[in-house]
Amino acid sequence: MSRIFSGVQPTGNLHLGNYLGAIRNFVRLQDDYECIYCAVDMHAITVWQEPEQLRKNIREVAAAYLASGVDPKKSIIFAQSNVHAHAELAWIFNCVARIGWLNRMTQFKEKAGKNRENASLGLYAYPSLMAADILVYKATHVPVGEDQKQHLELTRDIAQKFNNDFGTELFPMVEPLIFGEATRVMSLRDGTKKMSKSDPSDYSRITLTDGKDEVAKKLKKARTDADPLPEEVKGLEDRPEAANLVGIYAALADMSKEDVLKEYAGSQFSVFKPALTELAMEKFGPIGDEMKRLMADPGYVDEVLKDGAERAAAIANPIIREVKETVGFLVS
Ligand code: TYM
Repeated sequence: MSRIFSGVQPTGNLHLGNYLGAIRNFVRLQDDYECIYCAVDMHAITVWQEPEQLRKNIREVAAAYLASGVDPKKSIIFAQSNVHAHAELAWIFNCVARIGWLNRMTQFKEKAGKNRENASLGLYAYPSLMAADILVYKATHVPVGEDQKQHLELTRDIAQKFNNDFGTELFPMVEPLIFGEATRVMSLRDGTKKMSKSDPSDYSRITLTDGKDEVAKKLKKARTDADPLPEEVKGLEDRPEAANLVGIYAALADMSKEDVLKEYAGSQFSVFKPALTELAMEKFGPIGDEMKRLMADPGYVDEVLKDGAERAAAIANPIIREVKETVGFLVS
């Protein structure tokens, strides 16, 4: 049986990349699979989070799921820290994963920056907690953006080593689900850098709660080159900013990049950017409005998270018990 798991960090500034690369796909999968979607608050604290803001951001992730169309009756929506099996399995995986494997993780290198000695131990062990998130449900498929591919490879390595070490088939080999026209949305200020929640420039990203004026302003300022749009996708090679905007358009309109170029070949950005603004507002304007409504009265969101945590724990608890028995712990 297939089971889907994915998560988003509650670190604020949820953006178009999170939506197009991940959250939108969460919605598309829920009719065909059992889906579990998480606000990964324990991952968030691997770098400093203001407690009051963290609480708000956890609710914001849940609100983004709901506003985007994740149905809490079909899918499970919850906060990671409310299901303690995640932390328990993460520790066991810390003892399975090898330091050499973690040393290769590019996200750690990027996030820790030059001052690695000063990064938290949690930031280093982050991928092992991520493997635990997925495998504590024996999830088989994980919808994510392209940047998470390496972490999912590590998840498979951990599952495989655990299975080998203990002579079991307890954990499945997870498959990443990376699909759509925008699996890696780039920064609006620099087409070679990915759009990210932590970029210091607000102009680098469009957030889900931006209004029309903000979107128009950000797209107007978005870096581009001076040429009109080409006739073929091949013509976007070496034009990272143009390729990014065409990719965003294609994803939002549910078209291929080829079809977008059929419509806009020869157009200047002065024409394409306003068209993209209109399209963006049409597609995620209502999501931003619904998120704001849900955030203004978080009672409903809190109920969804509580119910989700109970349902998630009901799946995870027997699995963590099985893992503990396998490892040789005394399980009462
Ligand atoms: P996070 O919070 O950075 O991002 C959430 C999801 O959004 C995708 N994403 C993007 N997709 C396209 N273009 C972009 N510019 C872009 N930026 C982000 C991410 O790939 C992700 O799917 N480690 C994860 C959270 C996590 C997780 C998990 C995911 C923790 N445990 C278990 C899956 C399964 C992360 O930092 O996502």
